[in-house]
Amino acid sequence: MMADGAITQREYWNGEVGARWARNQRRIDAVFAPLTTALLDAARLRVDGSVLDIGCGAGDCAIAAARRLGAGAHVVAADLSAPLLAVARARAGIEASAGAPIAFVEADAQSHDFGAAVFEHAISRFGIMFFDDSAAAFANIRKALVPGGSLTFLCWRRIEDNPWITVPRDLVLPLVPEPEPGPPDAPGPFRFAEAETIRAVLAEAGFRDITVEAVDRPLSLARSGDGAGPTAAEAAADFATELGPVSRLLRDQPASIRVEALRRVSDDFTTRAVSGAVALNAGCWLVSATR
Ligand SMILES: C[S@@+](CC[C@H](N)C(=O)[O-])C[C@H]1O[C@@H](n2cnc3c(N)ncnc32)[C@H](O)[C@@H]1O
Repeated sequence: MMADGAITQREYWNGEVGARWARNQRRIDAVFAPLTTALLDAARLRVDGSVLDIGCGAGDCAIAAARRLGAGAHVVAADLSAPLLAVARARAGIEASAGAPIAFVEADAQSHDFGAAVFEHAISRFGIMFFDDSAAAFANIRKALVPGGSLTFLCWRRIEDNPWITVPRDLVLPLVPEPEPGPPDAPGPFRFAEAETIRAVLAEAGFRDITVEAVDRPLSLARSGDGAGPTAAEAAADFATELGPVSRLLRDQPASIRVEALRRVSDDFTTRAVSGAVALNAGCWLVSATR
């Protein structure tokens, strides 16, 4: 289960990347908000239906799902990243006062025993693309669902369908060594970029009624504040270079390259800012299936 050369996904999400996601939780959740709404609307959560959130990260979806449920239901939110779970637990204590109780568990969704036929719903916002053995992971998730229970998740389409990533990436690429393309079935954000791959893995795990729908949303990467802080373009450039494939390009680069990358992206975003906001399109698959 390797990520970025020699480290495992557990090490990856418990190391510098996990800390980065934890640090940026508020910005990530604000940027992904339109996608979160699309996911939870599609999940059609029953008010008394318990929910398993897979790869819950800093807990945004679990908290939003809990608010849609009654107190008789419950949410289990699983992740293998201790720093992200720490953020999730802290904010749930403050934000999740209404709805169903949430239990955050440090668990590998591929193998953890969530119990059999416990949940009416399993959901995930970008938490299911990092499995070493996707068939085993989805079979394990399926086992935790009651018969007729639903799985609903979001994953990224091809990188070309995601200008919020390709625009900054194309500005940064000339500054850094050409990255080695990884094998298409390796864990990573674009693991399920092809709809047929998703259908095949879910069918293999025993799911039925599989639907894979393209969802496009403009993501507002940043909005200018009261004029005292960074401009929207500067804040959006910072966000775009802090996370995901662009941050990976810059990770081992000297400060001079990082500064130049930020300047290039910020200059470009300045030309894109409309009414104090920088928005670029995101392309996802919204996937539903039934146990
Ligand atoms: C791209 S982040 C998404 C986090 C969160 N769902 C969100 O939208 O903010 C992917 C998450 O999946 C988690 N993850 C990766 N592999 C996992 C596994 N095998 N079991 C559970 N969680 C996993 C990571 O730790 C990380 O929190």
